[in-house]
Amino acid sequence: MTVEDVKIIHLPKFTNPKGNLSFVEQLNHIPFEIKRTYWIYDVPGGESRGGHAFKNNEEFIVALSGAFDVVVDDSQQQKRFVMNRSYYGLYIPSGLWREIENFSTNSVALEFGSIHYQEDDYVRDYEEFLRLKEDHLI
Ligand code: TYD
Repeated sequence: MTVEDVKIIHLPKFTNPKGNLSFVEQLNHIPFEIKRTYWIYDVPGGESRGGHAFKNNEEFIVALSGAFDVVVDDSQQQKRFVMNRSYYGLYIPSGLWREIENFSTNSVALEFGSIHYQEDDYVRDYEEFLRLKEDHLI
């Protein structure tokens, strides 16, 4: 997988003067079966999180509120996605390093995963990620 496989997906948006509505469906907007949903909140403004890669987990990230940048890295190239609309999703396949940076105050990151939480699916050391990538093990 490379950073070219990371995709912004435009979600449906029903606009209404009383408030807008968007939604996601598995195997439709989200290209995998959802096994897990979690959210990151109360992040101090300007903070960064999530420097890691997943060996198998695929992710879909929505900036439900506020804004942050998702930086993906395939060991050759980096790409930055500015997430600041709740009707965009970011699909990240497995095998890429990713960090979430520049959280705005009161932002909420909603994340869907393709597998249940498994600590041994994480690669948390960037040098190890580079070695695994070089050996085509991730
Ligand atoms: P982690 O994914 O390491 O967050 P970040 O990379 O953004 O810092 O998650 C932080 C902790 O939360 C992790 O050590 C274990 C726990 N956790 C779960 O128990 N289940 C989950 O689905 C997730 C995402 C995290």
